[in-house]
Amino acid sequence: TVSNIYSVAVDGPSGAGKSTLSKEVAKELGIVYVDTGAIYRTIGYYIFTQGIDPKDERAVAAVLPEVQVDMRYGADGLQRMFLGGTDVTEKIRLPEISMYASAVSAIPAVRAFLLEMQRDMARRSSVIMDGRDIGTVVLPNAQVKIFLCADVQVRARRRTLELEQRGTPKPYEQVLEEMEQRDWADSHRSAAPLRPAEDAVVVDTTNMDFAQSKDAILQVIRRRTQP
Ligand code: DC
Repeated sequence: TVSNIYSVAVDGPSGAGKSTLSKEVAKELGIVYVDTGAIYRTIGYYIFTQGIDPKDERAVAAVLPEVQVDMRYGADGLQRMFLGGTDVTEKIRLPEISMYASAVSAIPAVRAFLLEMQRDMARRSSVIMDGRDIGTVVLPNAQVKIFLCADVQVRARRRTLELEQRGTPKPYEQVLEEMEQRDWADSHRSAAPLRPAEDAVVVDTTNMDFAQSKDAILQVIRRRTQP
């Protein structure tokens, strides 16, 4: 079958700029941006509200059938997350939810539960999808795979600045420590650990500003999608 639909997988550690860059690139190319971390955050948020230990695999797996996660796009084209019909887009960004999201994302039943939802998005339209296992597990046949990374100190500095601008400041040292912890957890879990796909192009933004990073990504996409 002939189809003009293509997928761009963007994986990498937290704070590498995946979401900000993917959002911009999506706008430029006129394709849909899918933030898969937000889906894990929504599950993490549910587990948090239920007072369940996010590391308790059996307890988390047991409540999955009752979790109703929906992803919708607002008039502004931005993704919004719903839990049982309630918009939780802002709530899932609370700093304490990051660790819940990381913990539940290590549970195979959670990953299996969310797999079809993610694949379905890529079947409907061209997407740029960011996460940890998009190029390796979710969309192994994606036309473009990018592994976005940067030194952890640089990522921690960017995140500290972002938190400050958002009005929820946190000391750099703490941001760095939490980022190192999450990096370790995300890349050492047995279920779909964070790693570049064999056919991914690694883009290291340690010494790039936003515009340079965006150009680098667009270049990779054009190279892989133009005949
Ligand atoms: O990208 P993020 O920080 O919003 O992701 C939150 C957590 O979800 C992160 O710790 C790892 C996990 N995650 C995942 O395991 N697989 C994905 N495709 C996306 C996120």
